[in-house]
Amino acid sequence: MLSAVCLGGCGKETEPEIISIKIGVTLYDQYDTFLSGLMDHFNEYASEKESETGITIHVEAYNAASSQSAQNEQVEDMIQEGCNVICVNLVDRTDPATIIDLAERNNIPIIFFNRELVEEDLERWDQLYYVGAKAFESGIMQGELAVDAFREREGMDRNGDGILQYVVLEGEAGHQDAIVRTEYSVSTITQAGIPVEKLGNAIANWNRAQAQTKMSQMITQFGDAVELVLANNDDMALGAIDALKAAEVKRNEWPVVIGIDGTNVGMEAVRNGEMAGTVYNDKEGQAEEMLELAFDLSTGADLTSLQLENGKYIRLPYTKITAAEASEGMEDMDK
Ligand code: GAL
Repeated sequence: MLSAVCLGGCGKETEPEIISIKIGVTLYDQYDTFLSGLMDHFNEYASEKESETGITIHVEAYNAASSQSAQNEQVEDMIQEGCNVICVNLVDRTDPATIIDLAERNNIPIIFFNRELVEEDLERWDQLYYVGAKAFESGIMQGELAVDAFREREGMDRNGDGILQYVVLEGEAGHQDAIVRTEYSVSTITQAGIPVEKLGNAIANWNRAQAQTKMSQMITQFGDAVELVLANNDDMALGAIDALKAAEVKRNEWPVVIGIDGTNVGMEAVRNGEMAGTVYNDKEGQAEEMLELAFDLSTGADLTSLQLENGKYIRLPYTKITAAEASEGMEDMDK
């Protein structure tokens, strides 16, 4: 393994100069809106890093298309192709064993990202890392947005009973973000002193079309009783809006809809008032930290500048977004 970057003659004749590195990436689903945005930024940032360092960065990206066994094979292929480090967005966050064994046997570091494995798995070898977000923050912030909406929007409590009737659209069962967002958004509302009543919840796997189907069913079931839709991500919030439009619910009779992610389409819906707010999931920050970590691991640099938690974790914060921030922040965040 190469142990140091030696640009412009650092005096150690024996150490080869690193002129290129190869980073493998495998995504659980390349059509996931948030992750495809994250990958676009990862590739852009890799080009910037190339110009800055003069080291060529090859990024090999694979789509696991929701199959853990396909992803395991992809990791094996990437090792054979000579990747210096592999970034893994696990299909099944409870099943990283094959990948960890392969990595350890071949001495190739792995950066898991976005779909978090349990700590005991990450502890299985010292060359395993995780890059993601502070999951619980997203739920708390979504709850705070709902509290603000309840206090500021006259008529949100449509039946005037002082109780917020809500439904939840959940991401995948067992996904750390889905679990934590659902729990913390609701507990934040009740802790603010607003009584709530859950009318229904449905799993829609982060997916807009599935969310539309589930929301259509809930509109049929609960009619205009739903006052708030808490969606675990923007795509599902937009699916709920698609369902309201398809059911021809009048605009002033829509429940308040709040998402998470701040995808381009989500930000647009906040700007035009269809969504009351979203919580920005910093895809740029996560992509950049992942690239920096991959670069340092590939070139043998020390990792001190990265401020790893427990030597293994990088977690980026979230930001609350209402219409004002969605318009202001457009130039910085939405690029
Ligand atoms: C979440 C994100 C979702 C989806 C999911 C995939 O963090 O909010 O939109 O991308 O990750 O694992």
